[in-house]
Amino acid sequence: MGSDPRPRKQIHLAAHFPGVNNTTVWADAPTRRPTATPAGGAPPRPSLGSQIDFASFEHLARTAERGLFDFFFLAEGLRLREHKGRIHDLDVLGRPESLTVLNALAAVTERLGLAGTVSATFNEPYELARRIASLDHLSGGRAAWNVVTTSDAFTGENFRRGGYLDRADRYTRAAEFLATARELWDSRPDGGAPRRVEHRGPHFTVRGEFALPRSPQGHPVVIQAGDSAEGREFAASAADVIFTRHSGLEAGRAFYADVKRRLPAYGRRPADLKIMPGVTFVLGDTAAEAQEAAAEIRRRQVSPQTALLTLEQVWGVDLSSYDPDGPLPEIDPDPDGELARGRVRIADPRAVADKWRALSRAKGLSIRETVIETTGRQSFVGTPESVAREMDAFVQSDAADGFILVPHLTPGGLDPFVARVVPLLQERGVFRTEYTGTTLRSHLGLPEPARPARKD
Ligand SMILES: Cc1cc2nc3c(=O)[nH]c(=O)nc-3n(C[C@H](O)[C@H](O)[C@H](O)COP(=O)(O)O)c2cc1C
Repeated sequence: MGSDPRPRKQIHLAAHFPGVNNTTVWADAPTRRPTATPAGGAPPRPSLGSQIDFASFEHLARTAERGLFDFFFLAEGLRLREHKGRIHDLDVLGRPESLTVLNALAAVTERLGLAGTVSATFNEPYELARRIASLDHLSGGRAAWNVVTTSDAFTGENFRRGGYLDRADRYTRAAEFLATARELWDSRPDGGAPRRVEHRGPHFTVRGEFALPRSPQGHPVVIQAGDSAEGREFAASAADVIFTRHSGLEAGRAFYADVKRRLPAYGRRPADLKIMPGVTFVLGDTAAEAQEAAAEIRRRQVSPQTALLTLEQVWGVDLSSYDPDGPLPEIDPDPDGELARGRVRIADPRAVADKWRALSRAKGLSIRETVIETTGRQSFVGTPESVAREMDAFVQSDAADGFILVPHLTPGGLDPFVARVVPLLQERGVFRTEYTGTTLRSHLGLPEPARPARKD
């Protein structure tokens, strides 16, 4: 280890509140005992309230702050997902609005960053800039905005008259949206009288004075979570953090290098943009115990019904007559078939189907076993020591700057990580032992945005 002349990179950590996906196993705080397996068929329902109950958010946020995490993260879905006309079980229980939850969390935390996902496609810059600046004021400089572009017309039906923004326009709108928000945030540099903002662009015309004085961070932290070339370019030009799905070592390194190499064109340094994959973890006292727990979690996540639903995402046709414990369908996917609504469409279903069939034949796996094998794999499985070592190696080899942890159990799933892995990362000298600043920007080591001079 001592032969590497580079200083060891510090790891950044965030806690994702995973309320509404089918990989979350709900548990009552603060126990780690699962109360339900969600999604598909009729599993026992999580007790109403767990997912919209403030105590759940508070538990995870307080745990993350106890662990000195950089930020707490909320995803957002703007339409309840459905499949064959049935709303997903977890969505039935409710999907609260991110910034409202974060404002409430600001009151029960002191240093933890508070990051909310809000779509640039279905909002307006003035109003959203105001809401995010409000969070930044109320929290003393801890606000972050995950600028997503939201990919489907199904969601658009809740918002737009007659359909959806073209794919090609999503990022031009997002870029102009963010630039406009920053013009508004910059319009009152010294807290004095408001200066008039005059913005005219292809997507927005905004003329008026911003409602709030400059917020503690000046520019709240901006996160980006899209993977296309346009998404990466947008992140390189304007984001502070990328939330990515590239959580494997090799894929992570390739993504990391690709994005960091785009930065100089925008006059930015590699350290100005942090790359944080979403990852999962399973801990055990021994490696074997952790593997066993990981396998059990995967079985809970992929019930027989969930296995068939997952397959239908790929095949695009009704597969309800198939036996989840039997072989994969011989029929080919219908690329134009109906998929679960509110989910990202798979680019090449035929290729995925072929790969899954080959895997199932090679290993003799049933439908359910194939789905368990191909989806929901945990990123870090092992003893606290091995997980700390692997995470450190991952960051030091430039596959990431840190992680957005997605616990399987909600809301108590982060507790063992904070109790057992954080101290080991601290011992390795790669994670803070106290908060040194008060703003999220300072936790992340991001530059202060330039303070524009007053023009009037
Ligand atoms: C890791 C990750 C998390 C995302 N989270 C959300 C989300 O919470 N809400 C949302 O509407 N879209 C979310 N998205 C979707 C993106 O905003 C974007 O619409 C989608 O990835 C398609 O854009 P792309 O073609 O650039 O990948 C997420 C995407 C990624 C990769």
